Amino acid sequence: MTRKILEVASLTKVFGGLCAVENVSFDVDEGSITALIGPNGAGKTTMFNLITNVYQRSDGDVLFCDESICDLPANKIAGLGLVRTFQSARVFPGMTTLENVLTGAHLHMLAHPAQQMLWLPKATREERDLVAKADALLDLVNLLAFRDVAATDLPMGAQKLLEVVRALMAQPKLLLLDEPAAGLNDSETEEFAALICAVRNNGISVMVVEHNMSLVMGVADKVLVLDAGRLIAQGTPGDVQNNARVVEAYIGQEFSPQDGD
Ligand SMILES: Nc1ncnc2c1ncn2[C@@H]1O[C@H](COP(=O)(O)OP(=O)(O)OP(=O)(O)O)[C@@H](O)[C@H]1O
Ligand SMILES: [Mg+2]
Repeated sequence: MTRKILEVASLTKVFGGLCAVENVSFDVDEGSITALIGPNGAGKTTMFNLITNVYQRSDGDVLFCDESICDLPANKIAGLGLVRTFQSARVFPGMTTLENVLTGAHLHMLAHPAQQMLWLPKATREERDLVAKADALLDLVNLLAFRDVAATDLPMGAQKLLEVVRALMAQPKLLLLDEPAAGLNDSETEEFAALICAVRNNGISVMVVEHNMSLVMGVADKVLVLDAGRLIAQGTPGDVQNNARVVEAYIGQEFSPQDGD
C-alpha cells in the first residue's frame, strides 16, 4: 500500500466570524502530485498556511510522515522536509540566479556561521557541494547559462522555475507550491509542468495550488476541490471534471474546470 506522506484530519480555521477552512480531511500519497483547486477565496492558501503552521489551526490535526506537526514552528517543519513556496513570492532582488538558489539551502548548512566566515575546510567543502547541487538543478531547468545574471533580469517563466529550484535546495520530501504558474505563457507552463513531473519522478511528493486547469489536469494524480472552505470533491482529474458540484462551484468564476485558464 502506498504510504501517506501527509494526512490532514478535520482541519478548521476560523477568522473572526469567517470559517476559511471547515472540517477538511484528506491524504497525500508519497510520490504523487496532488492538486488543490477551487474558486478565489476558497481557502487554498489558508490550507497551506495551516499545514505549515504559518496560521494556527482552530481545530483538527496535520500529520507529516505519521507525526503531528501542528505544534511545531514553521522553520522546524521545513527542516523535516515539508517545504512551501508563497503565492506572491518572487526571486530575491540584488542577487544572482545562483545566489537565489543557494538561499534555499540555509536550513541544511552544517558548518557553524563562524566556520563559514573564516572559510574553514568544513565550510569550504560544504559550500562547494551546495554550489555543485545548485548548478545541477539550474542545468535541469536550462538556466545554468544564467547562473551569474541578476535573477530579476530573468523572464517571468524563468523566475518561476527558479523559485521551485530554490525550494528544492531545502531537500523537501513534500513540496507545496502556491500558484506556481500564475502569469506564465503556454510554453512556459508546459516547461513548468515538465519540471513538476521531474520533481515527482525523483521521489519528491508535490502538492500544488493552481488555477490553470490544463496544467492541473495534465500533471495531477489526485485533485482536491475546495469551495468556501469545504472539501467538495476529490479524485482523479477525470472524476472531478465530471463532478456536478465542482462544475457548479466554478459557475460565475473566470475559469471553468473543463478549460485552460
Ligand atoms: N489572515 C486572514 N485574516 C482574515 N481572513 C483571512 C485571512 N487569510 C485569509 N482570509 C480569508 O479566508 C478566505 C480564504 O482565503 P484564501 O487566501 O485561503 O483563499 P484562496 O483559495 O487561496 O484564494 P485565491 O485563489 O484568491 O488565492 C478568504 O475569505 C480570505 O479573505
Ligand atoms: Mg491563494
